[in-house]
Amino acid sequence: MPETPATPGTTGTRPTAPSLGFDPDDAAFVADPYPVYDRMRATGTALAYPANDWWLVTRHDQVNAMLRHRALGRVFVPKEPYERFAPWNLVNEHAMLELEPPDHTRLRRLVSKAFTPRRVEELRPAIRARTESLVDDLVGAGGGAFVDRVAEPLPVDVIGELLGIDPIDRALLRPWSNAIVALYEPSPDAGVEDAAIRAAAEFTTYLRALIEQRRRAPGEDLFSALVGVRDDGDRLTEDELVATAVLLLNAGHEASVNVLSNAVAHLLLERARWEAVVADPTLVPTAIEEAIRFDTPLSVFTRVAAEDVTIEGIDLAAGQQVGLLLGAANRDPAVFAEADRFEVGRSHNPHVGFGAGIHFCLGAALARVELQEALGTLVRRAPGLELADEPVRRDSYQFRGFSSVPVTVG
Ligand code: HEM
Repeated sequence: MPETPATPGTTGTRPTAPSLGFDPDDAAFVADPYPVYDRMRATGTALAYPANDWWLVTRHDQVNAMLRHRALGRVFVPKEPYERFAPWNLVNEHAMLELEPPDHTRLRRLVSKAFTPRRVEELRPAIRARTESLVDDLVGAGGGAFVDRVAEPLPVDVIGELLGIDPIDRALLRPWSNAIVALYEPSPDAGVEDAAIRAAAEFTTYLRALIEQRRRAPGEDLFSALVGVRDDGDRLTEDELVATAVLLLNAGHEASVNVLSNAVAHLLLERARWEAVVADPTLVPTAIEEAIRFDTPLSVFTRVAAEDVTIEGIDLAAGQQVGLLLGAANRDPAVFAEADRFEVGRSHNPHVGFGAGIHFCLGAALARVELQEALGTLVRRAPGLELADEPVRRDSYQFRGFSSVPVTVG
């Protein structure tokens, strides 16, 4: 490693991200990326990731500044050949996550009314009732697969309910979502691509039928409200409506499932942490924020420089893509004392797990309510929860979580 790292754009002996061990296809790296993140962060600058032509950014101040900087934006690059990827392109190119102002502002304004902290608080009793029923089933069974029995169904039900998806159809959502978002991994293979295209096509067909149905018989749900907006004000095209619904349904549960399984796994792996929350449930909110920081569920988001710009000492040429490594920023020792420790009561926790700037997670308030309700219910109703076996990590770099957290309830 050079003593004084050069800024991106210059050549020389500067290390690249792969040379420091960054490899999303390597199971050992995915299992524990943190030592590699430490080495990358210690260079003080962004590092080249030639496989995707990205500069990878790891320091908290740099990631935070780039998320907020208006010279950096999302630029949706359709997957090619376009025709082959058409269904997948359609659900992404009209989604607010991929757009910049003014389209982003218009879409976000329409949807955000449903996600204000006050509206979300109103959902708390229903979320609590659903959580209690899932946890009671787990306790009644003496334990079981925590991810399958609680962590997955809760967020799927909550977002499904909000959008008015029939309970019978909710089983379709997670397989569709998993297949679609798998294309966000840094290097998906052809089988993953085919599955993503198929899932996007099926999801779109399902939603177009639902649009027709809600137009004829609107309900009280958010989806009916969005259909109404489209018909009244002509401000949301049908493609935008489909893309918004897919984004909300996917974003609405992908990360929450992982945070809940990460939180429970990390609390139970060091029992004193779990006991601390059982003894003092007012620690639930800080424990949830710590789970988001400690094992950040969404690893990387990209931006593209619209012009030549220098941000926190990093020079970017117009057109340069950056990969902002949220999980690395959230372990930055310059910001977080004992960054590699899971502190259930961490009070100063300015993590960037929900992003920052204009794309800051629209569902953050909802995610917090459902995750706090879930952990709160668990410590109240299943204080004797224990791991029955080692948790197993998901085989995914971008979506950091566990596929299996077997538990017993003593
Ligand atoms: C703990 C759970 C969650 C985490 C960690 C999380 C994280 C994030 C992050 C990091 C972004 C910003 C991406 C970027 O800057 O490019 C984002 C955006 C977004 N999230 Fe979440 N999210 C969570 C739950 C939810 C939920 C429950 C919803 C519900 C609907 C949701 C909806 C969205 C939407 C719509 C956006 C796009 C916002 C925009 O582009 O303006 N998320 N989320």
